[in-house]
Amino acid sequence: MTYTFVTLFSNLIDGYFKDSILKRAIEKNLLEINYVNPRDYSVNKHSKVDDTAFGGGAGMVMNPQPLFDALDDLKSKDENVHIVFLTPVAKQFVQNDAKRLATKSHIAFVSGRYEGIDERVIEKYADEVFSIGDYILTGGELASLVLCDAISRNIEGVLGNSDSLTVESFETPLLEAPSFSKPKDYDSLSVPSEYLKGNHSIIRSLKLALSECKTKFFRPEQLLKQRRRKSYEK
Ligand code: ADE
Repeated sequence: MTYTFVTLFSNLIDGYFKDSILKRAIEKNLLEINYVNPRDYSVNKHSKVDDTAFGGGAGMVMNPQPLFDALDDLKSKDENVHIVFLTPVAKQFVQNDAKRLATKSHIAFVSGRYEGIDERVIEKYADEVFSIGDYILTGGELASLVLCDAISRNIEGVLGNSDSLTVESFETPLLEAPSFSKPKDYDSLSVPSEYLKGNHSIIRSLKLALSECKTKFFRPEQLLKQRRRKSYEK
């Protein structure tokens, strides 16, 4: 998978790939990371990339010209590039999107700064547009990293152990059961005793019960989804 980050601020992104699992995936040639700076495409003599918004409103909007030229150039080099815009005004990104996008060969994430991107750029170039949640960030860079990370985990070979994919929260409507590690007792807090006894069928039913409790408390709408799924299967 090749990721191209189209951003004015690549420094906000590249530190993330300097450590840990994604660094290893890059070393194994499973991932390749590129950056495109729209400023390099600006025809303005001061390399300006933004301007005030027509119709008023606070803040600056990213101009179409540098982004049109940057994205035309990208598409001319790879006609299969899948172009994703990050903005709070979009459908929320979910685990199924991460799985689906993991099958692409090349994804370009376009991050807006300032008050956003001239809508004509999105109209012309977006294959998809995503928000990562109902809050406003100072730019799309963090959101593009969130998508990149979530997608990459679903690419064969990126995680050491593919088992860890299937039992996680959002792979089913239930949230994942709590996990515990050594020691058995810490600061007067104990690991649930059934986890320690090694009877796997008891552990499985306890984990299911705990998953249901967690889901009911934190994400009750997910529990309803699970019940609907079960009655459909009957
Ligand atoms: N840019 C600013 N806020 C955002 C959000 N919530 N999701 C995606 N991109 C954004």
